[in-house]
Amino acid sequence: MSDEKNDMTTQTPTKGLPCLSRRGFLLAGSSATVVLAAGCAGFSFPKGTALRIVEYPRKRIASLSDVRAHRPISFSYPEPGPLYNSFLVQLDGEASGGVGPDNSIVAFSGVCTHMGGPLSGQYRRDHAVVGPCPLHLTTFDLRKHGMVVSGHGTDTLPQVKLEIENGEIYATAVMGLIYGLNRNTA
Ligand code: FES
Repeated sequence: MSDEKNDMTTQTPTKGLPCLSRRGFLLAGSSATVVLAAGCAGFSFPKGTALRIVEYPRKRIASLSDVRAHRPISFSYPEPGPLYNSFLVQLDGEASGGVGPDNSIVAFSGVCTHMGGPLSGQYRRDHAVVGPCPLHLTTFDLRKHGMVVSGHGTDTLPQVKLEIENGEIYATAVMGLIYGLNRNTA
């Protein structure tokens, strides 16, 4: 079983599409920032897109064997506390930045990038999205790096970079700016 509480509603969705938001550009300046171009480190981006990922201390999230499709696992990353609420979920098929079977396992911040609304319980398996946010209805596409698909928000939902080693899933970095921060710190 996961060492984190699973409190997200179960329920679902392409690969390598736009993911960089205005907030993403603001990530410049951190010494731990890594600039990745298309196709690097398991993430795939449109050709020519420069994307900044901030690396944090590696944290075990769950065993691969504990992951069930469409059953989100909640965790906090990179720090404890509600600002860093995040979730991991296995979608039906390949997702941008996904790991595991069919690259279908992804993880994201659980805090809406618009005004910090809680996204816990808002996973929708039929469309592989999280949302609508209970505050202003923003919905994010989990197959496309958390891209906004509707609602008031404009910034992509930060994606947690995952790695698998010896059957364990680890969080290693965050792509995008977590709501409430001026910049991601490491
Ligand atoms: S806080 Fe989520 S849409 Fe406004």
